[in-house]
Formats: sequence, structure tokens, C-alpha cells
Amino acid sequence: MARIILYTGKGGVGKTSITASTAALMAEMGGKRTLVISTDPAHSLSDVLAMDIGPEIKEVDTNLYAQEISVNDAINHHWQELKGYLTGLFQSQGGLDPVSAEEIATLRV
Ligand SMILES: Nc1ncnc2c1ncn2[C@@H]1O[C@H](COP(=O)(O)OP(=O)(O)OP(=O)(O)O)[C@@H](O)[C@H]1O
Ligand SMILES: [Mg+2]
Repeated sequence: MARIILYTGKGGVGKTSITASTAALMAEMGGKRTLVISTDPAHSLSDVLAMDIGPEIKEVDTNLYAQEISVNDAINHHWQELKGYLTGLFQSQGGLDPVSAEEIATLRV
């Protein structure tokens, strides 16, 4: 059975430290395959783990994996899929014609 543990709280209270420590403990003592994920745009998981962690899942140690979610990276990977969904939604719910719906669902950066 998979278990998800979330740590939240105000800035600087030790979320990242406790998260990384819990993950390391689970991987080592529990022998569970453990993925530690940072969703903070200002990641510090790399510093805590003393290893470059990026948006792709990286193996850190036996049973221990880490990932720093990047919103930009996720948008680049999934925008075509989301765009298709939004285009359909704008047509079915917004009553837009296909060309207008696709135009509105186009991401401009
Ligand atoms: N139990 C602890 N005792 C003393 N200092 C700690 C403890 N846990 C973390 N720290 C220190 O407190 C600082 C903040 O820790 P950490 O980065 O884990 O917090 P955070 O809640 O993730 O912060 P942020 O909100 O900026 O992401 C760091 O310098 C860390 O070394
Ligand atoms: Mg943190």
C-alpha cells in the first residue's frame, strides 16, 4: 500500500529538512521505495540532499528518489494535452467555434 505524507507550514520552520529526513528514514529503515517531492518554486531539496535534483525523478540512494517540481517544465511537457482539453471545454461549455476556442487556449509567454 502506498502512503503519501505532506508537510506544510509557514516559511522556515523546517519543512524541507523534516521531509528529506523522513524520506531517508523510510527508505533506509522501512525499506520502502520512497519518492521525496518539493513543490516549492524556490527549491532547497538539492541543498538538503547535497545533490542536484531537477524536475525529473532522480535516484538519490537505495530506495530513495527525489524530484523538484517545475511548473514551467510541467507546462512544456503537458500543455498540448491541456490545450486539447481546454479547446473542447471552450466549445462545449463556452459555445465558441473551434477556431476561437483553439485561439483562446493558446499559451502566450
Ligand atoms: N530541527 C531543527 N533545528 C534547528 N534548525 C533547523 C531544524 N530544522 C531545520 N532547521 C534549519 O532551519 C532552516 C530552515 O529549514 P528548512 O529549509 O527545512 O525549512 P522550510 O520550512 O522548508 O523553509 P522554506 O519555507 O523556506 O521552504 C534551515 O537553515 C535549517 O537548517
Ligand atoms: Mg522548504
